[in-house]
Amino acid sequence: MTQTPWLGFSIDRAASTPVFEQICAAIRLRAASGDMASGSKLPPTRVFATELGVSRSTIVTAYEQLVAEGYLSSQQGSGYRLCAAGEVELTQRPARAKPETTTRSGAAAVSHRAQNTSNRPKTEEPVVRPFRAGTPDMRLFPYRQWAKTVARICRSDPQSMFLGSRGFGSLALRQSICDHVAEWRGISARPEQVIVTAGATDALEICLHELAETGDSVALEDPGYKPLQHFIAAQGLTPDYLRVDENGAVLPSGPVASRLAILTPSHQFPLGGAMSPARRMEFLRWATKTEAWIVEDDYDSEFRYAGRPIPAMAGFDHLHRTLYVGSFSKIFSNALRLGYLILPDSLVGRFADSIQRFGPKASSMPQQPLADFINSGEFYRHLRRVRRIYAERRRFLLDQLTKEFSAYGYCVDHQAGMQVVFHLTCGLQDLEICNRAAEQGLSIEALSGFVQAPDSLGGTYNGLVLGFCGYSEVELDQGLGNLTRVLEQIRG
Ligand SMILES: Cc1ncc(COP(=O)(O)O)c(C=O)c1O
Repeated sequence: MTQTPWLGFSIDRAASTPVFEQICAAIRLRAASGDMASGSKLPPTRVFATELGVSRSTIVTAYEQLVAEGYLSSQQGSGYRLCAAGEVELTQRPARAKPETTTRSGAAAVSHRAQNTSNRPKTEEPVVRPFRAGTPDMRLFPYRQWAKTVARICRSDPQSMFLGSRGFGSLALRQSICDHVAEWRGISARPEQVIVTAGATDALEICLHELAETGDSVALEDPGYKPLQHFIAAQGLTPDYLRVDENGAVLPSGPVASRLAILTPSHQFPLGGAMSPARRMEFLRWATKTEAWIVEDDYDSEFRYAGRPIPAMAGFDHLHRTLYVGSFSKIFSNALRLGYLILPDSLVGRFADSIQRFGPKASSMPQQPLADFINSGEFYRHLRRVRRIYAERRRFLLDQLTKEFSAYGYCVDHQAGMQVVFHLTCGLQDLEICNRAAEQGLSIEALSGFVQAPDSLGGTYNGLVLGFCGYSEVELDQGLGNLTRVLEQIRG
């Protein structure tokens, strides 16, 4: 903890609240309690930064945030002063404004008077920390329609919420999943081939349990999904890392010891590209010839923003050597923890034994409501809506990055997914940027952190993984403002 004599408060670096938020909170509190008189001057940013042992830009961010909220005023040359009491309601943080399009300066200029008239939620507002990847915007969740569906089933058919809790899951939901993947992913499957799982993670873990034994090697994309890499290590399996080029994961030219490959062909995680048809064929030929299995992790494939969806590899293979993993976490809600695994017919008996032994992890209660939600069309109404909004947010982010950050790097536009990768070309290191950005209330992951075997990749990955779905354009814009300060500060 760092104490400053001036305001007498502490910075807790271990806390999940960003440092600039802690500074804001302390100043709001002192203003509200009368410890600071209106009109009093705040310490100069440089001095205050030194006292607290934080970067100057952290203090500037905090002060600017309070200016936007109406607590402080700033005048060129004379620093920041506390506004007169009564101009703002000092004890509560104003709700964020939510216009869909604005400029960076427009975001900062949101009037505190307008904010004061907005409805404040009674519950604690979740902290918004751009640019966390892979999180949907739960403010867009269709709460009313979902509540209606759940209420109707609770009233008219409560028993249906417990059906299938001991086997592969609710038959109604498995049928809806078959309809969904037939329409969206070009996969023809019967409900008997579908297991409802606790998200894609559970589906991947089931595959690893069933198809690999301790000491076996498993082929994995590098860079790739970190929890999968950790799970493989924890299971005593040996990862066989596949490098990724512009056509997707690369099958080594020599013999491959792995009996199982886990791939993201529709949308490589985290780079974003789709695997080329020729590369897909190579993997399918390899799996057929060596009797290996391919697990297709199709975690966010519904989010394609241009052209037709890229058909799943499992559809092309007619579920012969390919197991298909899908998730409702991205299109609907992370919190539901529901996903699915679609099996080749030849594996159904084996996986049924395993489910009997270990028991299913997926919650049964939301399964029937989700089936109804899909069948009634509400699910697709929601999907169309969020796709349109995410497409706008993505466009906004890409435009800003191209216009204002080209001195630092570039993005490759894959027209898909929930995050973009900004590849750095300016000599700055992604990890340092991400650590400094965390101090500014940003949640950015370093591309290099997704790489396991950098030496074998024949190239380096240095970039920022920027999620855009969970943030309005105003929030993205504010986040980019903070990112600019971080980059300028590191560059000196
Ligand atoms: C590539 C990849 N696979 C699987 C998952 C896990 O998804 P779920 O939340 O459905 O477990 C994620 C989550 O971000 C992911 O990025």
